[in-house]
Parts: sequence; C-alpha cells; structure tokens
Amino acid sequence: MNLTTSYLGLSLNSPIVASASPLSSTLDGVRELADAHVGAIVLYSLFEEQLTLDRDSLTRLLADRGYASALVEKSESVRLAQTPLDYLKHVTAAREAVDVPIIASINGGPNPDWANYARLLEDAGASAIEVNLYFVPTDLDVTSAEVEERYVDTIAAVTDGVDIPVAVKLSPYFGNVGNVAKRLVGAGASGLVLFNRFYQPDLDIGRRAVRPALELSTSHELRLPLRWTGILRDRVEASLAVTSGVHTSDDVIKAILVGADVAMVASALLKHGPDYVETLHRGLRSWMAGEDLTSLDAVRGSLSQSRLERPEVFERAQYIRTLESAS
Ligand SMILES: Cc1cc2nc3c(=O)[nH]c(=O)nc-3n(C[C@H](O)[C@H](O)[C@H](O)COP(=O)(O)O)c2cc1C
Repeated sequence: MNLTTSYLGLSLNSPIVASASPLSSTLDGVRELADAHVGAIVLYSLFEEQLTLDRDSLTRLLADRGYASALVEKSESVRLAQTPLDYLKHVTAAREAVDVPIIASINGGPNPDWANYARLLEDAGASAIEVNLYFVPTDLDVTSAEVEERYVDTIAAVTDGVDIPVAVKLSPYFGNVGNVAKRLVGAGASGLVLFNRFYQPDLDIGRRAVRPALELSTSHELRLPLRWTGILRDRVEASLAVTSGVHTSDDVIKAILVGADVAMVASALLKHGPDYVETLHRGLRSWMAGEDLTSLDAVRGSLSQSRLERPEVFERAQYIRTLESAS
C-alpha cells in the first residue's frame, strides 16, 4: 500500500505531517517524530519578535553567507531554539539527524526581514519554509486591501530570495480567502496551509486582567479547513495542507478526500505523543484496504467542490439545509 505523497514538490512517505509545535523544538523531539514515520516535520517557529531582537547578528551573517554554514555546525544541544542563530543551528541539526524533510517555520506579521532570514534558512538546510503570517491589524485606518497587499509583498520577497519551496500558513479571516490564496500563489507560494489557529486571549475576572489561553483543538475545528481546501483544490497551482482539528484517521481521510496533499497534526500528537502517528497510519491503511485502494491519489480531491455534482454544498445553500436539518 502506497502512502507516498507529493507536497511542495517534495516526495513524502506519508501524508501525515507534524505541524509546528513544541514537539519539534528539540532534536530528541524531531527524532521521535521521524521514528513515528511522519511524512515531514514542520519545526516550531522562529517568531518575528526573536528576529527583530537579533538584527545585528543577522546583518553580520548576511554580509558573509559562507559564515552561515560555519555557524550551523552540528549541535547536539537539546534546547529550545531561542535566537535566530540557534534556530539556524536547529534546522541544520534536525536535517542531519533524520531522513524526513525538515520544513523551517517563521511566524509573524508582514516584515521585509523575513526575506533575508529565509535565505539563511535555505543555507542551513531546510527542505522548505512555512511562513505563518500572523498579524492582528488594530489600526482602524488600515484597509483590508492594504493588509492583503503587505502579505502578498512579503511572500513575493521571501520566494524571490530562495530556491526552496515556500508555503504560507494562512488565516481564514479575509473577505475572500480564495482571492488572497490565489494572489499568494501568484506571488510565488508553492503551498497553502489552511488554516492558522488563532489563540484568543481570555479574561481573568478576579484579577481583572487579560490572560493568554491555549487550548488544544478538537476534530470539530476541521470543518473550516475542509471547506476551503475543497473550494481551492484544482483552482490554485499549489500544494494544499490541512491543519486545525486533525485528530483521527477519519480526519486525515476527510482532508484527502476534499483535496489536501497532506494533513498536519499538532494537538493530537501533543495529547497522545508522537507514536500516535502509527495509530493514524493504521486507520488510514485499514480504510484503504476496505476501499481497495493501493494509493491515495485515486481519491484525493474526489469530494472537492469542482468535482462534486452539487458544488453548492460548499456554499451558502448548505447553510440553509444544515439549519433545516435541525428541525
Ligand atoms: C502548543 C502549540 C504550539 C504551536 N506552535 C506553533 C508554531 O510555533 N508555529 C506555527 O505556525 N504554529 C504553531 N502551532 C499551531 C499548530 O502548528 C497547528 O497549526 C494548530 O495547532 C492546529 O492544528 P491542530 O488542530 O493539529 O493542533 C502551535 C500549536 C500548539 C498547540
């Protein structure tokens, strides 16, 4: 049975990819994920705040890109990558430690510095880069069009500077997600990761304070990425990854049926441990055996919008039917 999957032009042994999470922040964690046979590993992100704090070191690095290979000599140190330099070392160490593709991840708002740092990630040995554009525009005078333009410009700058593929982890909060997706692909993105999961702050009413709140996802959150993957499949020339709510092998199958090339998993692995990938693989293989499938390509996208007889199920019509079904 063949689980081989093409994602961002990379050949993966499995469509199950470890999404960015603390599991990949250490080399031991990276090895555990590889031993569990994930198709690829997206590393825990380097955040914009870390990048801007260490701009001087980056300027020195960029002045002599050869220095990058010197500094990324093997590091067995098992620790959280805290600075841009540590992160580059982690990318190289991870790349050397395992056979699965290592996707470096950068996380922040539209920022011209990303393009420079992306070159260093390529030098450090990343197989691809995932750019998680996370930005909450609180300036009420900034228009949606301006925000989108900044996203597109950032991705154009990043993709211009590197030869490795670049995926964009997108938010669903746009007036027309499909149009933004299409323009990001036009700007050079090889893949779209749908969707970034926002952690909304909670309130502590006793202390009258805002407090950060992190909760793991549930399968219920899969519906939004499923819908948009189904809509975008065959309509943008890019690989598609589903993230948010992949917890069971059925969730992986649903992602593939709507047209995802890969299903990314974070919460489920944090909850059950990296070995849980084997459970997902077992469920996937057992379903394929029952369906007489030797590869996933035969069914990938078979429930995407463009291949459905009733494409309106992805649109507003389904809203009315869903409400009606409640009575
Ligand atoms: C504890 C934790 C840390 C995360 N760190 C990152 C990160 O560094 N970069 C990133 O792009 N996404 C990060 N994510 C988001 C995940 O990669 C994933 O997209 C999200 O959790 C939805 O997938 P899930 O439903 O499988 O958890 C993190 C998620 C969790 C739970």
